[in-house]
Amino acid sequence: MLKFNYRNADAMVVGEANGLNIAQEFDNYKETIASIIADLNKRKDKPGQWLQWMNLGYSEETIWYAKEFASMVENRFENILVLGIGGSALGGIAVTEALLKPYWNLLSAEERNNFPRIFFLDNIDPDTMQGLLNVLDLKKTLVNVITKSGSTAEIMSQYMILKDMLEKELGDDYRKNIVVTTDKNVGVLKQLADQEGYKTFIIPDDVGGRFSVFSAVGLVPFALVGIDIDELTNGIKDMDLALKNTDIHENIAAQNALIHYLMDTQKGKKLSVMMPYSSRLRYVADWYAQLWAESLGKEYDKNGNKVNVGPTPIKALGVTDQHSQIQLYNEGPNDKLITFIRVENFDTTIEIPNIFEYTGIGYLGGKTINDLLNAEADSTKVALSDYCRPTLTISIDKITPYSMGQLLYMLEVQTAIAGELYNIDTFNQPGVEQAKNYTYALMGRSGYEDSAQQLQEKMASV
Ligand code: PA5
Repeated sequence: MLKFNYRNADAMVVGEANGLNIAQEFDNYKETIASIIADLNKRKDKPGQWLQWMNLGYSEETIWYAKEFASMVENRFENILVLGIGGSALGGIAVTEALLKPYWNLLSAEERNNFPRIFFLDNIDPDTMQGLLNVLDLKKTLVNVITKSGSTAEIMSQYMILKDMLEKELGDDYRKNIVVTTDKNVGVLKQLADQEGYKTFIIPDDVGGRFSVFSAVGLVPFALVGIDIDELTNGIKDMDLALKNTDIHENIAAQNALIHYLMDTQKGKKLSVMMPYSSRLRYVADWYAQLWAESLGKEYDKNGNKVNVGPTPIKALGVTDQHSQIQLYNEGPNDKLITFIRVENFDTTIEIPNIFEYTGIGYLGGKTINDLLNAEADSTKVALSDYCRPTLTISIDKITPYSMGQLLYMLEVQTAIAGELYNIDTFNQPGVEQAKNYTYALMGRSGYEDSAQQLQEKMASV
């Protein structure tokens, strides 16, 4: 299991002004938390609650179909190209970066055990898009178009470009190089996929984009590149079982959610930093930033009161950002709660050779890079507490499919519990929809003529 250590967020360590009396707060919120957890588990199967992501670990069917598809196309493709953005890409990027061998796309086919390379096109910068298309042999590329809404302008444009290019290269056979992951009803992509006869995976109802990593959105690309999705889902299921515990003393997602909530609302820690001490986990911080920001950043609470809540997520990387951000974290405004993610055992141990005796560097010889990394993580944590800066630590024994399932699922549940504490709708994103609608209007989509008119007026007046 993951370990969660909150000692350095306690008033005992960082002082009353910046820390919480955590044991006391756990007692104060014991009943509130128990009823939130019981309520989430009670509501999760009800339509319209957007809690179906809590069942994804148990979806034997999706796991089976993802594996079957992967074995059907085995050895046929050199590359997987995922077209997706936001929740349709960030989880995939986080998990593949964590679980595939580092620099996967630079390895030979043999070193990849003949599994394909994987690319995520999660932006529409024309230069990088063209650059990627220049290096991919499209005949040997399987394009996975992922969009829950089936209409996101960025992804549908990418799809149209890729479809056209594939058709020109492959004639009628282009269809074999496209697989679609989308909603069964919403948007045009499902309709198109049916007409064109693409292999299609459905994102279940009531699973929002940022909570969709364990649906076909993630499982299909993971299976295609050889990630053990059975182990991944075992991690999710075991974590789910643990997080059903309504006792806050036994539930790390609830503890983490409550500490974040109280730090924000009582101690002015409006910024929430996630800092993994592992390059392989750096994109977990990206995925989490979206999960936290879109879920908790809300204008209204559930009772319609204007609240404008939500801690601002920040991503950092240990040790790299010790040399860029830590100065600010130690001495700048004391407005942050920092969560370290620590890996106890790396796959590799690298020894530093004993080749110099200079006093300035000789001490490093005979140690390992692993020792250095862990020493830096420990000293940064202690230095922060010397400056009365609260920190939390999540420890993972090893980066494996099982521990990644556990970690991401725990963070999802933590987000849902935090949303209940803020009393907001965790699962909507009106602030994202607004800009999406303006884009449709600007690009001339029919049905958006009024917005286009308003937008032109607003732009003219700036
Ligand atoms: O979490 C969300 O809902 C969003 O970030 C979406 O994932 C993102 O906007 C992409 O949407 P879609 O998957 O519909 O293309």
